[in-house]
Amino acid sequence: MNWDTIHNRDESWRTKLIGDISYAFVMPRYVELFEKYFKNSKSLSFLELGSGNGEIAALIAKKKFPFISRYVTSECFPKGVEWLKEKGLEAVLANAEDIPAKDASFDVVLSFDVMHHVTDPRKMASEMLRTACGRLFLTESNGLSVGRKLMELTPGHRSAGEKSYTPSQYRSFFNHPGFRVTHFKIRPFVFPIKLPKRFIDVAIAFNRWIETIPLLNWQCSNVYIYLEYERVPS
Ligand SMILES: C[S@@+](CC[C@H](N)C(=O)[O-])C[C@H]1O[C@@H](n2cnc3c(N)ncnc32)[C@H](O)[C@@H]1O
Repeated sequence: MNWDTIHNRDESWRTKLIGDISYAFVMPRYVELFEKYFKNSKSLSFLELGSGNGEIAALIAKKKFPFISRYVTSECFPKGVEWLKEKGLEAVLANAEDIPAKDASFDVVLSFDVMHHVTDPRKMASEMLRTACGRLFLTESNGLSVGRKLMELTPGHRSAGEKSYTPSQYRSFFNHPGFRVTHFKIRPFVFPIKLPKRFIDVAIAFNRWIETIPLLNWQCSNVYIYLEYERVPS
């Protein structure tokens, strides 16, 4: 898959697909959740996998969160690494399914909308467990969403190799000898509706509302996953 033609330096795949609501709600919501899970910690090092053009990482950097001691972005193709460096981000070349880092190199490993694009999500999960020190955070596509599943049949989504999974499938990817998951949270969020710009507030209010409605919220297009684990003898 040729990612340097799917998205580009200035516009991510997400923003190409969903337009204005990407900037107005979706990306800020990602950063809000990131902050929620890590704000009570001190001096954490992060590795972000598949950072794309660094849109999310740049938003995180702008916030100057006091709990971040180091934030390394990465991409699996060299041009992507260049895009990240041009944004002033620390960036390395890394395949999420074979991360070029030692065991337990980072406090947290995270990814935003990457696992449903990789060939072997279970391998990516094992690499995340191996390289982090007990905490992972991901946003992913929601395999329970009928709208999402239908979208994945369209040529654009197929060309990006999209394949969303159900919550139990995501959970199963993190079962590996030598690791015990002690906390796994998966919640639905984001329901992108393309409305004219003047209705953006309505779209945001709808997104915040649907996240709170039991059962219906599982028709949201995305999920976020927060995971804690420990190392055990295998
Ligand atoms: C939907 S984009 C998300 C980009 C970025 N995380 C964001 O939120 O804007 C998916 C990203 O996953 C990356 N990707 C796909 N396969 C990968 C792999 N095996 N290892 C690392 N990154 C990968 C692509 O290069 C692409 O940038």
